Amino acid sequence: MTDGRPPRILFVCLGNICRSPLAEAAMRAAAEREDVPVEVDSAGTGDWHVGKAPDRRAIATAYRHGLDIAGLRARQVGADDFRAFDRLVALDRSNLDTLRAIAPEDGRAQLSLLLDHVAGREGEDVADPYFGEDEGFEQAWRDICAGVGGLLAELAGQPSR
Ligand code: 4NP
Repeated sequence: MTDGRPPRILFVCLGNICRSPLAEAAMRAAAEREDVPVEVDSAGTGDWHVGKAPDRRAIATAYRHGLDIAGLRARQVGADDFRAFDRLVALDRSNLDTLRAIAPEDGRAQLSLLLDHVAGREGEDVADPYFGEDEGFEQAWRDICAGVGGLLAELAGQPSR
């Protein structure tokens, strides 16, 4: 429970420059549109890109869908995130495994996989588009929007499935 304050959600991928910044922006936009109070952030399990802007292909994908993510900066997930956030939502199973492995004993955040919030897609990854073609970013965007929609419905107290 969140004691009346908006739930705090952290989206987590590997580099925090492709999928999780898109998820952060998609969630913030959808929550505003549907008037659901929520606080959103994103982080990566890896530290290679800390301080960097999102990948230019992620920026372009967001832009095509009316969102500006160029101002976001990558950061690495840390133990405090398990205490500060209500939910840590991993973009794929590998990153969910990492979160489970590094969760501190007094962490209270609930861990889940983004596509677990979509009926019929439980256990699926949002595929990492970093090493692939541009089309992978559009596919990631579609998956992210599906996951964000399901998660938002849960947060709004509506049945999501
Ligand atoms: P992301 O994509 O986890 O969606 O941000 C990646 C970004 C960078 C790398 C891998 C995935 N990398 O290996 O540097």
